Amino acid sequence: MTASTANASAVVGLQWGDEGKGKLVDLLAPQFDAVVRYNGGANAGHSVVVGGERYALHLIPSGILSPGVYAIVGNGVVVDPARLLEEMKILSDRGVDVSKLVISDRAHVVMPYHKEEDALREELLSSSVSDQTSASCGVIAAIGTTKRGIGPAYADKVQRATAIRIGDLLCPAVLREKLTMICSMKNAVLNALRPDGQASFDPDGIADEMIALGEQLRPMVKDTAYLLDDIRKAGGTILFEGANATMLDVDHGTFPYVTSSNSSALGMGPGTGVPPQAIGRIIGVVKAYSTRVGGGPMPTELFDGVGDEIRTRGREFGTTTGRPRRVGWLDLVALKYAAMISGATELCITLLDVLSGEDELKLAVAYDMPDGRRDRFIADGHALVDAKPVYETMAGFSQEITGARTFDELPDEAKAYIQRIEAFVGVPVGMISVGPDREQTIVRA
Ligand code: IMP
Repeated sequence: MTASTANASAVVGLQWGDEGKGKLVDLLAPQFDAVVRYNGGANAGHSVVVGGERYALHLIPSGILSPGVYAIVGNGVVVDPARLLEEMKILSDRGVDVSKLVISDRAHVVMPYHKEEDALREELLSSSVSDQTSASCGVIAAIGTTKRGIGPAYADKVQRATAIRIGDLLCPAVLREKLTMICSMKNAVLNALRPDGQASFDPDGIADEMIALGEQLRPMVKDTAYLLDDIRKAGGTILFEGANATMLDVDHGTFPYVTSSNSSALGMGPGTGVPPQAIGRIIGVVKAYSTRVGGGPMPTELFDGVGDEIRTRGREFGTTTGRPRRVGWLDLVALKYAAMISGATELCITLLDVLSGEDELKLAVAYDMPDGRRDRFIADGHALVDAKPVYETMAGFSQEITGARTFDELPDEAKAYIQRIEAFVGVPVGMISVGPDREQTIVRA
């Protein structure tokens, strides 16, 4: 018998990442028995502030900060073992209990050659200008990846024979045999990509390193699909922690300017083995404005002083790469689409405090395209380049709101802004974050 009740919830970003999911997961985690990552890898960067201390997590679920809660890295995650162990050490050194961390034996491993391939591909893409210059296709450009080897690791997963899973690290003989074949293939491919043609990944050296890392991970490695089912059968509850975000989903985002996993809520099933009927509540996290790191279209991007003000106030610099984030007004066309794809049952608006001080607030409610106006999103990174946002302008607010703890304490203009978002998207706003601390959160009844 398997568990059949919808006792799982999810927190998923509805924009291009960095919506503040980490804070929300940390806030909700104590109510759950397990917090589970289902996609992405060390490309994600979740910062959580607890008691004034900031924690930057990349691979470990933010739920790790809640004592007694399982923090599970599901099979859909691509794991860089050295980074994972480093992150564990940083947490333990700061007194965080990491004993409830569990890693799926079926999660795929990010290997050293994946990182090299990621960087080489990006370099080649940024230096080669395609001849596809028509306005509707745009020019093929670098994706602006985090260079953490994410795309090549997922590519090997789909290629199958050249993939290494966490479970393989625990079987030295199998690993050595696989790496002999894989390194000869990788060296040949990377020689073609490298300007010096000198790729020389050594299977024995990599195997020694990976076997040693695997030994450190061994106590944490489990079949997490069974673990999650056991938790559910015992009446326990699960919180899924989405990494990256819906607009970066490889199938439904602004392809090809996306990440390489199903980073919308749709990735939960394949990335963990938990069936769809388990998921009852999906909280879509949305910044009060838009940001994006890396390449790809962003119709509401701001290139003026307003964008700079928001970037500075919102400290919009990447947690993973430190890159300044691109900033823009909230795009309701994109948001309504993302809420549809991720099946958001409620919204959590974050960083509302950052908008304090703007005289007016703009919301994109349609796009003007060369062939007319449309109110539906275009999930194509090339076609979307032509979208000119049609804005609705609302009054801004200047009051400091970081101390607000109820909806009624917000200025009327901020309330109207929130109400406009929920009316347009058709999904209620259940939570509003007005600062980085756990306490700086408004929960609407
Ligand atoms: P990759 O995931 O490193 O391959 O990068 C692909 C694209 O997704 C790049 O534009 C990255 O900047 C972006 N990206 C990946 N993960 C995140 C994230 O967690 N937040 C914001 N952007 C991300």
